[in-house]
Amino acid sequence: MKIVSLFSGAGGLDLGLIQAGHEVVWANDFDADAVATYKKNIGNHIILGSIEDIPSSQIPSCDVVVGGFPCQGFSQANLLRFEKDKRNRLYLEFKRIITDKKPKYFLAENVRGILSLANGRAIEKIEKDFAAAGYRVKKKLFNVANFGVPQSRWRVVIAGTRNDLPETADFCFPVETHTNPSKAKKMGLKAWSQIGKALAKIPEPDEKHSLPNHVCSQYKVTNRNFTGHRWTDAEKPSPTILARGNGKGGVCAIQHPNNHRRMSIRESATIQTFPLDFEFVGKMNSCYRQVGNAVPVLFAYHLGLQLGSQNQSMKEAA
Ligand SMILES: C[S@@+](CC[C@H](N)C(=O)[O-])C[C@H]1O[C@@H](n2cnc3c(N)ncnc32)[C@H](O)[C@@H]1O
Repeated sequence: MKIVSLFSGAGGLDLGLIQAGHEVVWANDFDADAVATYKKNIGNHIILGSIEDIPSSQIPSCDVVVGGFPCQGFSQANLLRFEKDKRNRLYLEFKRIITDKKPKYFLAENVRGILSLANGRAIEKIEKDFAAAGYRVKKKLFNVANFGVPQSRWRVVIAGTRNDLPETADFCFPVETHTNPSKAKKMGLKAWSQIGKALAKIPEPDEKHSLPNHVCSQYKVTNRNFTGHRWTDAEKPSPTILARGNGKGGVCAIQHPNNHRRMSIRESATIQTFPLDFEFVGKMNSCYRQVGNAVPVLFAYHLGLQLGSQNQSMKEAA
């Protein structure tokens, strides 16, 4: 299907959708480094600039709109003032583009916290607004480890199917392929991928290698048992790869499974299931941030497969 991608970042979501056979016809981000990364690895169809400055007429028509809108303003949502709160403007941009382009489907990825913002009233409002734009809306919370990504990362996907499509064309969420090793055999699924195995073949950054972005933060390893400072268990999926700061102006990279240093940008990208030759552009903090912001490519691929089979069954029904 033809896809328009908003808030595209380095392109983790887009790459997975392309790997599943779709075509991203237009993408956008206002971060110059992310756009340079996207161009280097994916294509020149990404436009640099704030989505707020781009009229819908400049966006091509498409079958699907995807993107994860940042949503800081929801947390203290006084829903009467919701539309006026400037921090919600990016959500409103997503809504504008769906309303104007009327794609068959939309997929919006977001953090788990969106479900509890304003005691759940924010997500209710979002679902209602998308429904009013002409869509049957559903949402689901996923741990991407359940799709073979060697990382525990909880994300919500909100999906919409345009009202005039038959119910048989409703977007169906992908089915999990992996689970906790203690239940895997019984459930007939694969066991979670382990961070130790995922990184086993990557040499130390100071050994001889030709891997791009294989440099790491010198921020110290402290094992203090809070986010970003935990001992990493080599036999489990990685903790969530973060785009958040370390309090000193940098990004807090997760500890390597040997717990002797932080993971390099390359290793963090491997845990986010980017290919080894996918090269990030920018200074170290910017690259870590682009990696931490991304939808894991493998999870995006599963969403893409699902869109593909939806398209197939629609064609067969026609
Ligand atoms: C969570 S990241 C998206 C990651 C991407 N989906 C991926 O898989 O790599 C959100 C992105 O929104 C972008 N963004 C925030 N405000 C924006 C705006 N006003 N216009 C365009 N992009 C914006 C940020 O630069 C960031 O790259």
